[in-house]
Amino acid sequence: MKSIHFDYEQSCLVTNEALQPLQAKLQHEIERIYEARTYDYDTHYASINLPFDEELIKTIQATVKETKKHQPTTLVVIGIGGSNLGTMAVLEAIRGKFYNNHCEVDVYFVDTVDTDNIDDITQFVERELETGNNIIINVISKSGTTTETIANFEIFLEILKSHRPYNYNDFIVATTDLDSALWQLAEQQEFVRLAIPKHVGGRYSVFSAVGLFPLCFLDIDIETLCAGAQSGFLLSTHKTLSNNPAAMSAALIDTHYKRGNIIHDTFLFSVALNNLGAWYRQLSAESVGKAYNINKELINTGVLPTISIGSTDLHSVAQLYLAGPYNRFTTFVFIGNSTTDLYLPEFADFDALVPHIQGKPLTTIMDAILEGTKRAYHNGERPFVSCIIPEKSAYYIGQFMQIKMIEIMYLGYLLNVNPFDQPQVEDYKKETKMILSRE
Ligand code: PA5
Repeated sequence: MKSIHFDYEQSCLVTNEALQPLQAKLQHEIERIYEARTYDYDTHYASINLPFDEELIKTIQATVKETKKHQPTTLVVIGIGGSNLGTMAVLEAIRGKFYNNHCEVDVYFVDTVDTDNIDDITQFVERELETGNNIIINVISKSGTTTETIANFEIFLEILKSHRPYNYNDFIVATTDLDSALWQLAEQQEFVRLAIPKHVGGRYSVFSAVGLFPLCFLDIDIETLCAGAQSGFLLSTHKTLSNNPAAMSAALIDTHYKRGNIIHDTFLFSVALNNLGAWYRQLSAESVGKAYNINKELINTGVLPTISIGSTDLHSVAQLYLAGPYNRFTTFVFIGNSTTDLYLPEFADFDALVPHIQGKPLTTIMDAILEGTKRAYHNGERPFVSCIIPEKSAYYIGQFMQIKMIEIMYLGYLLNVNPFDQPQVEDYKKETKMILSRE
């Protein structure tokens, strides 16, 4: 079976003896997650079943086919947090930063209520509609009541209505929980509807309609993405820690956290993986940043997930990373094989500026920087592990994301918190609504 390679041994600074109790402790949870595979969508582990759901993939493909009958030129994805981060992560990882140059349909992600940014996007959309082109709006909200999402949706809906007054509803796909307020509105207004299973939380929802509809619409091979995720599930339910990347990673993060390494930095050596880092940051922070443990005791726990991009951030934070407090554990992530092959010219007179790079491929230079960084971490006793994604393909990105989601479930278990709720996010949402009600 093809798989991502994890290297724990080089410099994780945790002995096998220290890991043994965690292997024993995690056994129960590994079995529970493995067994949850048979419970469809009835448990909190529901998300692990999504990539195996053939009906879901068929529904998504049929919905994409139906909406593409309008020959749209633009997709507007309106959603925030768990409702758009996974899609952006997959798209950027596979298509790169300039993803709109590589697809027939342009996509715009609308999340926060930044008036200038939204205004820019509305101008693109208006231009398309004025020239007779069609757009599809995919509004995504599990709860159906997130202020930013609904506010932005109203703005785009009004534009669409003004240009397509008689059939605007044909161009809207609402992805939400069955029976949410948004679902009911979508039903009344006859929008196309896609349901999110009740127990699939936002940050675990990339393989539900939340991620699969926009990705399939943008011609990402969702069958291969899900096949990768299925393999990620199998790897993450292996009984032995050393063969289970999700459990091993959780055990190492937990061990370091308890030693005072309260930061977990994901250091991605690929510009295209920036959004994958952002997706993981939310997944980790919302899942294990908790005031109370499972027994309802106040513990105020949580590992701070940070993201760094190599080699850019070596020129911004490396000094702190190598000289500052010993409070961080790092996971280096890099791509085994790039899709392009760019060589430097042979400019001999440039040797005086930087020697030994003339005529070499950029990948050789990047590899040297990565290796140099790892050596510096090793010499400075800064603990790290490495993760090599063979290539930026749907299969491996799917595999990586599933491993990481299950890693966070294990980490929640080790920290004795519920990795599936987010009570304090709800707090700010309630307060915002209260303030708006007074204005
Ligand atoms: O992961 C989560 O649960 C959150 O980040 C939500 O996705 C986010 O708050 C948006 O919520 P909703 O999808 O209900 O609009």
